[in-house]
Amino acid sequence: MAAHATTMNAASRKSAGSGPLVYRGQALHFEQVCLESIARAVPTPFYCYSADAIKTAYGTLAEALKSVGVSVCFAVKANGNVSVLRLLAELGAGMDIVSGGELARALAAEVPASKIIFSGVGKTRTEIARALDAGIHQFNVESEAELAAVIEVAASLGVRAPVALRVNPDVDAGAHTKISTGKKDDKFGIPFESVPTLYAKACAAPELDPVGLAVHIGSQILDFSPYRAAYSRIADLVRLLRAQRLPIRRLDLGGGFGIPYAGGPTLDIGEYANIVRETVGDLDCALTVEPGRWLVGRAGLLVTEVLYLKGTAEKPTAIVDAGMNDLMRPALYGAVHPVFPLKQHGRGAHTYQLAGPVCESSDIFGTYAGLPQLQSGDRVAFGCAGAYGASMASTYNARDLVAEVLVWGDKFRVIRRTQTVQDLLKLEEAGEWQGSLDHAATELRSAS
Ligand code: LLP
Repeated sequence: MAAHATTMNAASRKSAGSGPLVYRGQALHFEQVCLESIARAVPTPFYCYSADAIKTAYGTLAEALKSVGVSVCFAVKANGNVSVLRLLAELGAGMDIVSGGELARALAAEVPASKIIFSGVGKTRTEIARALDAGIHQFNVESEAELAAVIEVAASLGVRAPVALRVNPDVDAGAHTKISTGKKDDKFGIPFESVPTLYAKACAAPELDPVGLAVHIGSQILDFSPYRAAYSRIADLVRLLRAQRLPIRRLDLGGGFGIPYAGGPTLDIGEYANIVRETVGDLDCALTVEPGRWLVGRAGLLVTEVLYLKGTAEKPTAIVDAGMNDLMRPALYGAVHPVFPLKQHGRGAHTYQLAGPVCESSDIFGTYAGLPQLQSGDRVAFGCAGAYGASMASTYNARDLVAEVLVWGDKFRVIRRTQTVQDLLKLEEAGEWQGSLDHAATELRSAS
């Protein structure tokens, strides 16, 4: 997906998208709520999620995986909003976390610790201790050094840590290089050949309860064949370890299911379930997946307002009030998110480059054909923004972290208020250093 290729405006297709995003009359609605009515109450830009879309995605996934007995842990990194986590937890999801911060979020959403898996390549000892204190389900350990840290912390707390080893299966997931995790040169996981020795070591450590293996090969994967390759390798490993009388009772199969940003059919999770059945289904292991994007990606919009029109007749540009700090994916991966005008003035014949206000040349969302003529004050929504949108946002250029809104039925509610620069300035208010700085300034003045 090249950032600067022209994209057909999604709204010029027959429907605004699948599921709850529809035009009624000329007005874009999310479920029963008119997005313009939210934009009158909440300043743009803001993220907006559909509870129904999350429920539908979770229901489809859980139903397809039920036949193979796979449980679902949501990858919190995709969307860590506590209301979103709570909704997913109520639907039955556990959580996959990668930091102490995400642990705090999952616990704030009242997810039972027994349903939390701690992944990630660089857990600190403090984070490990917090997770052990909370009593989480499992650590996915990614190196020998990390295993030593878990042993050390568990010993100091006098508890046993449930650990799985994350295997690097050396499989190319075919995803964007920046989100590929399963090839041997990627920083993730333990080299396939090193796993047996390390697993035996884990089994010998009284501080550990070695539960099994984990694997995650990448993200935005749109073809299931790399999963077949990876899971077949994992199955071989399970047989090898069992032949050495090492116990394996759980397999964490990772996440990575892609979504169609440019429209079109979604992945058939039934086909994925078949792969699971055929590769690891006969191993008598408890199976878990940890998807993020697939559960929430399509359920989110980033609503923004056109500030100014500029550029040449050949290349008209609309500067919108959302920037790369709010939605980093286009600048970071060349991703293209579909765009939907909030008021559809018929099928548009206009092409615009949509750009944000951030002082970086890469602050471009893309060039979209099929848009109506835009004016300052018009609003548009970027679709498929529910995953890795708000969770990756930053305050670059001293911009706000924008509000998040949840829609359900004919209601909506702000589920995170805007974090303004005033909130951040409070963190920089006169600290202890301030006095010494004042002192240094006085000295400088008197010396000059
Ligand atoms: N499990 C582990 C260990 C992961 O590293 C990830 C994602 C997931 C699960 C969930 O993957 P998903 O099902 O969401 O594909 N910021 C990038 C995506 C980075 C994904 C990192 N790891 C993006 O915006 O495309």
